[in-house]
Amino acid sequence: MHKDVKEILFSEEQLKERVAQIAAQIDRDYAGKELMLVSVLRGSFIFMADLVRAITVPCKVDFMAVSSYGSGTVSSGQVQITKDLSEDITGRHLLVVEDILDSGNTLSYLLEVLRARKPASIRLCTLLDKPERRVKPVHLDYTGFTIPDAFVVGYGLDYDEYYRNLPYIGVLRPSVYGGEE
Ligand code: PRP
Repeated sequence: MHKDVKEILFSEEQLKERVAQIAAQIDRDYAGKELMLVSVLRGSFIFMADLVRAITVPCKVDFMAVSSYGSGTVSSGQVQITKDLSEDITGRHLLVVEDILDSGNTLSYLLEVLRARKPASIRLCTLLDKPERRVKPVHLDYTGFTIPDAFVVGYGLDYDEYYRNLPYIGVLRPSVYGGEE
């Protein structure tokens, strides 16, 4: 285990199993349809890569990047699109893929932006849901795990851009970001 990680919440095996279950559910729900997966960078890149390889319905992928956190641990509420989609999404079945839903600021803003482009449907998929800190309500269609209010890193999730490469999801030691142990 990495020295800055206090505890492992989800191991590689647990993540793999849950991703396969979500993909199977997506396959069932989109049978006979074509899907467009939209990954919200950067945090979702590993989840997206694993999820798309477990999905068997025909699909395209596209990417968006937004920024809101900076290097702190609390969402500012200000969301900015720093990279937009490359594809036209009009009339498409969209599945937005996130690594974590926290305050809800990012997804509620993104949904508004994407809905205005008139896709045929939009669903939301997040690997982690941290409901305790929700400020804006967001309806999730696919959730990997519901987690407590702890600062988690790994499997794409960062603190100050580090730890994304950890193959598991772990709780960061508070001393790393100046908190009480
Ligand atoms: C994280 C995560 C979501 C957002 C969720 O991104 O990927 O996009 O925060 O938080 P919210 O529900 O409070 O809006 P972050 O801004 O850390 O950027 P990253 O994806 O590049 O790590």
